Amino acid sequence: MLTFLFCLLFAAVYGFVDYGDVLPEFYAAGTGPVLKADSPYGEHQLSLTPDTPYLTLDFATEVAGLPFFEVAALSRPTQIEVKYAEDLTALDNPYSDGPWTFSNGLSNTFRTETFNLTEPGRIESYFVQGGQRWETVRLLTNSTVAFEKIGFRTTAQHLATDDTLGRFSSSNAVYDRIWDLGARVVQVACIDAGNAPSTWDITPDGAFIRGQQTAQSAKGIALSNYTLSLSTKIVKGGTGWRVASSTTPTGAVFYLTSNYTEDTTFINTNRTLLPPNTLVFNFGYSIVNQSTLVTGWNQYFPLNASIHEDKWYNISTTITSEGYRVNIDGVQEILVPIFEAEYLSAASTSSFASSSPKTGTWGFGPWSGQEAYVKDVRVTLSNGTVAYTNAMTSSSTLSEYGVAPLDASVCLDGGKRDRLVWIGDFYHTTKVIASSTHRMDYVLGSIEYALTLQKQEPPFEGFAPISASLGSRPAYMDAFLSNYAVLLDYQDLFLGAIGDYFWRTNDLVGLEKYWPNVKKLAEARIGYIDPYSGLAAGDDVFYFLGPVNGSAVTALLSYGLQRLIPLAEALNDTAAAQHYQETARDLNEAVNRELWSSQLGTYALSISASSNYSLTSIAWTLLSGAANSTQAASMIAKLPDLRLGAGYKTSSSDPDLSTTQLSPNILGMLLEGLFIAHRDLGVENTTVAKTLLDDFWSQMVLQDEYHSGASWEYLYPDGSPGIDLFTSLAHPWGAAPTYVLPEYVLGITATSPGFKTWEFRPNLGALGLTEAYGTVPTPYGVISARWEIVDGGKGAVITALGPNGTKGRLVLPGEWEAEREGRKQRCRYVDLDGEEERLVRLHGLSL
Ligand SMILES: *[C@@H]1O[C@H](CO)[C@@H](O)[C@H](O)[C@H]1NC(C)=O
Ligand SMILES: *[C@@H]1O[C@H](CO)[C@@H](O)[C@H](O)[C@H]1NC(C)=O
Ligand SMILES: *[C@@H]1O[C@H](CO)[C@@H](O)[C@H](O)[C@H]1NC(C)=O
Ligand SMILES: *[C@@H]1O[C@H](CO)[C@@H](O)[C@H](O)[C@H]1NC(C)=O
Ligand SMILES: *[C@@H]1O[C@H](CO)[C@@H](O)[C@H](O)[C@H]1NC(C)=O
Ligand SMILES: *[C@@H]1O[C@H](CO)[C@@H](O)[C@H](O)[C@H]1NC(C)=O
Ligand SMILES: *[C@@H]1O[C@H](CO)[C@@H](O)[C@H](O)[C@H]1NC(C)=O
Ligand SMILES: *[C@@H]1O[C@H](CO)[C@@H](O)[C@H](O)[C@H]1NC(C)=O
Ligand SMILES: *[C@@H]1O[C@H](CO)[C@@H](O)[C@H](O)[C@H]1NC(C)=O
Ligand SMILES: *[C@@H]1O[C@H](CO)[C@@H](O)[C@H](O)[C@H]1NC(C)=O
Ligand SMILES: *[C@@H]1O[C@H](CO)[C@@H](O)[C@H](O)[C@H]1NC(C)=O
Ligand SMILES: *[C@@H]1O[C@H](CO)[C@@H](O)[C@H](O)[C@H]1NC(C)=O
Repeated sequence: MLTFLFCLLFAAVYGFVDYGDVLPEFYAAGTGPVLKADSPYGEHQLSLTPDTPYLTLDFATEVAGLPFFEVAALSRPTQIEVKYAEDLTALDNPYSDGPWTFSNGLSNTFRTETFNLTEPGRIESYFVQGGQRWETVRLLTNSTVAFEKIGFRTTAQHLATDDTLGRFSSSNAVYDRIWDLGARVVQVACIDAGNAPSTWDITPDGAFIRGQQTAQSAKGIALSNYTLSLSTKIVKGGTGWRVASSTTPTGAVFYLTSNYTEDTTFINTNRTLLPPNTLVFNFGYSIVNQSTLVTGWNQYFPLNASIHEDKWYNISTTITSEGYRVNIDGVQEILVPIFEAEYLSAASTSSFASSSPKTGTWGFGPWSGQEAYVKDVRVTLSNGTVAYTNAMTSSSTLSEYGVAPLDASVCLDGGKRDRLVWIGDFYHTTKVIASSTHRMDYVLGSIEYALTLQKQEPPFEGFAPISASLGSRPAYMDAFLSNYAVLLDYQDLFLGAIGDYFWRTNDLVGLEKYWPNVKKLAEARIGYIDPYSGLAAGDDVFYFLGPVNGSAVTALLSYGLQRLIPLAEALNDTAAAQHYQETARDLNEAVNRELWSSQLGTYALSISASSNYSLTSIAWTLLSGAANSTQAASMIAKLPDLRLGAGYKTSSSDPDLSTTQLSPNILGMLLEGLFIAHRDLGVENTTVAKTLLDDFWSQMVLQDEYHSGASWEYLYPDGSPGIDLFTSLAHPWGAAPTYVLPEYVLGITATSPGFKTWEFRPNLGALGLTEAYGTVPTPYGVISARWEIVDGGKGAVITALGPNGTKGRLVLPGEWEAEREGRKQRCRYVDLDGEEERLVRLHGLSL
């Protein structure tokens, strides 16, 4: 009985949440990737033969999960090379759009995977693929194979975007598809506890590790000049390890390859990248460059003997002043000269890299397609002290190396990468979920996840980690110090998200126990207000959205504090509510006093960059209420000066280059700010807001080769995805229209926590639309509302239905003679309490 209960509890924490299989929509058989894969995927089998060795599978929109193949028949043992990609153009690249060298995100590091099919039946990948629209299958052997089914056992909800609780549609089909991007992206970028299993297997023979980015011990961050020794047995192809690394995989990395025994070696093994019987070295992230994550150059050390598979080797790596001395017991000793490491380490400016080529932790992970065991790990300091031992046979090893199964339901920055819980991105994610899937459990789960890792002592006391990884545990939080030290404004975006979660749900039960943590975080940030300027600042700190003593970061802090006020009030913490109110007011005053430039017609970027300005300062001074109506109109009139290609560049100091990254994250903040200016500050002109949808977000839906059905991370000015193939094409931070359209174009806004009261301010004719319809989720059920322009712009029909338990108010644009249920009356608003649908007709408009 006890055992039974234990199993139930265990399942409740880690159980896989089964969302079923997803199958392709279309496919094409041929000799290479095809954009218009036009055969509908159906009941019939798909075959590969030497004449048609290539399948393109199009899932139509982004999916996530464990790839599987159901083999119906095969002529002999068959190898297939499978690629996954968000963007069709990646399929021509040997590594597709991967590998993910920045983190080991409890998923497949590699986007090219080889399978050995030997008999009919279902074969499933060991690794999750976090996000793709495309999959290709290439036959490597001279054989034929027929598949009953190919797809993903999905690790995420995969609802059609017109089946989500929140919905939006209008007279503009492109806007509707733009809205869908958010309803899709939060389905792939949020994961249930249990749906990201460990990527290592602990066995009595140590850790069995399949090819993946190295995962590092949390116990060696501060150690220098040590010897790492381990026993390793190659099962397939090779083994890999790292020393002098950050917990982020950067530092000295080594791969040792086997003699590539013929019958266990994949046909497509790249013998140029990884020759047999060789030690390969790199200093950096990986042994291949991945767009902006460049790594060092590879150094190759051919061995003078054969490295056997299925044989244990003792290997030691000693960090010395001449280099890394690698001893492969009984085979050879190699000195990897320190030059490359010292040169690259001195040149590195990354805050994620280890400080020196002699300091930092160790990690393990073979290369793509390789498999190896690692056991009996020992670290010895230069004075002979044994600093660490680990047989690698206990499951506690998983959390130490950051590969423990996910134990919380959280939202990531992106489906395929970085697969980290970035709290700044979470600002948009929260609003997008609230407006579409309404999976608010992921929002509360993410808040809890980050606050459990809140720093309890200086430096950065009170901060939450900016990008918590999935597989670690709070016991190891000290190994992730860089996670607290940079991007200080991510803390403010996180505060905004917490406030927003409360505003949308009224969930005091969920938040009350975290209130002391939230207050501590708010106080920590208030401590960064410069006593002289009154602006957000700090010594040697780095913000994402603008410089210290600047308009963007100050207005954002003001916003974050303001969003907490309703929560403080609901908890009867009037002192906190008043404190946030006054501090936010002071911040807004300081921005106006120190940084408004009537000469520029906008806020200056910062005290020390007084002739520059940015989208972020325009967005946040609008969102925080710092800007008044004249300032708003003036700033908005200035925006065309930042126009660059399909969108707007972030700062006036950004170059007008074809490689300048345009940010949907920041343009999303601006988009809401523009609608606030329109709704609350009387700025009638919405030309810029319209260009954001028509020219910028439309790029994500109108280019089929890049379309993923989800919102993107960055764009180039020509409208293609930014940062090359590394770019996430499923990034919730790019999905602001999903919450802006229902709130400001349809016009539904909560006026008290949890939509107990709400307003419907139909934005009649907004953006040239003749009709807008939507449903907005609330804890009581959905509000459904519609407006439609009729009589050639002279009239409007407005309908609304709110859930029981809420009071809505339809606010008309001025005083109108409204015909309501057959009766005509002059009024400014119509109350909508009750669950009955109301219909109002307006006459005499001129739209
Ligand atoms: C492929 O196999 C077929 C028969 O199974 C054989 O006739 C043909 O020569 C083989 N082709 C190659 C390139 O090995
Ligand atoms: C494929 O599987 C067969 C049967 O298990 C095995 O004999 C063969 O070595 C495998 N090939 C590779 C490349 O792993
Ligand atoms: C093999 O590796 C080399 C060296 O890194 C690279 O240039 C080449 O593109 C790779 N080829 C394939 C097919 O992966
Ligand atoms: C990555 O690119 C850098 C700079 O362009 C180059 O020096 C280095 O050799 C490349 N690394 C690899 C592994 O190709
Ligand atoms: C590779 O290793 C196997 C044993 O694992 C051995 O039988 C074979 O002779 C070796 N091949 C070469 C080329 O050294
Ligand atoms: C590591 O060794 C270098 C010399 O190679 C020395 O300068 C440095 O102080 C040592 N670091 C520690 C922490 O002992
Ligand atoms: C292999 O290299 C080591 C030096 O690293 C040397 O001692 C050994 O004799 C060499 N073995 C052969 C077979 O050349
Ligand atoms: C070796 O060095 C470590 C770290 O500097 C120190 O803690 C330890 O006491 C030293 N051990 C001996 C035997 O000197
Ligand atoms: C706040 O105060 C009100 C009125 O005294 C009370 O009804 C409510 O339960 C209190 N809320 C909390 C969370 O303590
Ligand atoms: C807005 O603020 C500016 C700068 O402080 C001021 O000149 C202007 O009069 C204000 N406009 C309104 C409508 O309050
Ligand atoms: C609206 O704003 C845009 C961009 O600032 C400007 O080009 C346009 O002239 C304005 N339209 C009107 C009617 O003021
Ligand atoms: C709404 O509440 C009223 C009374 O409060 C009740 O009569 C009605 O059935 C409820 N409607 C729904 C749809 O639950």
